[in-house]
Formats: sequence, C-alpha cells, structure tokens
Amino acid sequence: MQAVDVTPRVWDRILAVRSGQACACCGRFSAGERAALDLYGPVARRDLGPVTVAQIGQSLDGRIATMSGDARDVSGPDGLAHLHRLRALVDGVVIGVGTALHDHPRLTVRLCSGHDPARIVIDPRGRLPDDAPMLAATGARRIVVQGVDRPRPRGVEILRLPLHDRQLDPSQILDGLRTVGLGSLLIEGGGTTITGFLEAGLLDRLQVSIAPLIIGAGPQGLTSRTPVDRLKDALRPDTRVFGLGSDIVFDCGLGDLAARCMLPVHSKHPLRQVPAAG
Ligand SMILES: NC(=O)c1ccc[n+]([C@@H]2O[C@H](COP(=O)([O-])OP(=O)(O)OC[C@H]3O[C@@H](n4cnc5c(N)ncnc54)[C@H](OP(=O)(O)O)[C@@H]3O)[C@@H](O)[C@H]2O)c1
Repeated sequence: MQAVDVTPRVWDRILAVRSGQACACCGRFSAGERAALDLYGPVARRDLGPVTVAQIGQSLDGRIATMSGDARDVSGPDGLAHLHRLRALVDGVVIGVGTALHDHPRLTVRLCSGHDPARIVIDPRGRLPDDAPMLAATGARRIVVQGVDRPRPRGVEILRLPLHDRQLDPSQILDGLRTVGLGSLLIEGGGTTITGFLEAGLLDRLQVSIAPLIIGAGPQGLTSRTPVDRLKDALRPDTRVFGLGSDIVFDCGLGDLAARCMLPVHSKHPLRQVPAAG
C-alpha cells in the first residue's frame, strides 16, 4: 500500500497536469507526494483521452449509509478530501436522482483548491425539484439527463434521451455529455448509478474508499442485477491500494477488463463489442 501525502506543492502540480501545463513524472517529490501523483495522475492527465472514473465511499462491512439513510460521513475526513480532489480533476460529476433527492449535495469543490466541475443528474422521470441545491446557479454548468419532456429553470441544460424499459442507456448518456463538451467524468453515486456504468463496461477506473467503521446494515455500494454464480467469473480488476490517513482507497483499472469480463454475461447494452474468444 502506498501512503499518500497531498502537500500543497504536489496538489499544485496535479492541477497543472490537469490543465496540460506539466507532466506527472518529473520533479523531486517525497515518497508520499509520488504516491499522490500515482493516484491522481491517471484522472488528471488529458493526453490519454477522457477518463470515466467512479468513486464510492463505504464502511468495513460494505455499507454506504445506515438503514435510516444517514450517509453524510461514511467516509472519514481524508476520504472526503479525496472526493473533492477527484471533483476538481474532472469536467463533470454525475449522480443519480436517488442521491440528489436524498443527500441534497452541492457537488462543489470545497476541501481543496480547484474549479467546480459541471453538475449532472440522471433523472429519467423528471423527479428532481427545480430548487435542488445542485441546480443552483453558482457558475458551474448544470445538466439534467431526462427521459421525459420537463422544462427546467433558465440556465439548466437538458439532455433528453430515449427510455428503454424505463432505463436510460449509460453509453448514450456518456456520448451525450461528451457531445456537449464534457470529457473526463466522475460517477459519484449512488450504487445504482455506478453499477449501471460498470455493467455497461464504461468505467475506466473504479475507486472504492473504505473507512474503518462497521454499520451493521444498510444499503450496499455496488449491487449487480446479474451477479456471477462462481468466483472464477468475478471481475478481478488490476488494483492499486493507497492509504489516505482516515481511509484506504482501492483504485481499480477496468478499461478492457470490464469489456472482456462483464459484457458477455451482464450487459443489456451491447455497446462495446467483445473480442471473440481465442
Ligand atoms: N457513500 C457514498 O460514496 C455515496 C455516494 C452517493 C450516494 N450515496 C448514498 O446512496 C444512496 C442512493 O443511492 P441509490 O443507488 O439508491 O440511487 P442513485 O444511484 O443515486 O440514483 C438511482 C436513480 O437514478 C436514476 N438512474 C440512474 N441511472 C439510470 C439509468 N441508467 N437509467 C435510468 N435511470 C437511472 C433512476 O431514477 P428513477 O428512480 O427516477 O428511475 C434510479 O433509480 C443514498 O443513501 C446516498 O446517500 C452514497
């Protein structure tokens, strides 16, 4: 496990990597600062093309909230700072309407320096009220991905997509967001939304942050509608482990692995063609 030390100077470097003004490799840095470059570099770099990363914060027993829905501080302080750093490195943050209705998040960058990303909510039935905090006019773009015709307040962009079995195609969501200029995206939750992108083979990275608390019951992070029966069929990503202080991050590279391992069994959306066996 690499212990991460996000000093102001290494964070400045990572922001410079994000804006294409510096590389993530050169320079004299401590081992902890190097670990920070390793963790954030793949999300910050723009020369590798747009990145889709999902992040979920959970307890030791795999819960993301209590039974009563208390989810605010599952992650410890360093896990929360990590989430804000990821927000600062992407062009847009995507959440499902379940999280928007339940947590009322603002999706801004407050625990580190950096720009606020565009805020995107997947709201197929148009349930999110117009006065939701994430739709407030604070300078960042706000986009609602809808499957119905529903007007939104001035300044809120609508990405209208077709519904199939009451579902929106995650690939069309991604394509639509890229068409309006958003490249790198953070899928921030909840579990339903992240699982949709994971099962469609659209995540380049999945970060699972674990905080040392045991909740005992409550919603779990990632829950597939079509789980594997045998462990040999489980997805086994290429994983790096980083110690943040209060939390541990499992940083999983998916890319081709998701396409190879998941799609033949799980995907309702044959969007990435799976290479023939052998
Ligand atoms: N610990 C963490 O890191 C973390 C992060 C975020 C959220 N949370 C917690 O997670 C819980 C909410 O998670 P959740 O899984 O219930 O909800 P969610 O993923 O936030 O939202 C799910 C809803 O979004 C819509 N949606 C998402 N993808 C869709 C698609 N491809 N097609 C159509 N609709 C789509 C659907 O809305 P409709 O229902 O209208 O069809 C779906 O029911 C809350 O307790 C929140 O506090 C925890």
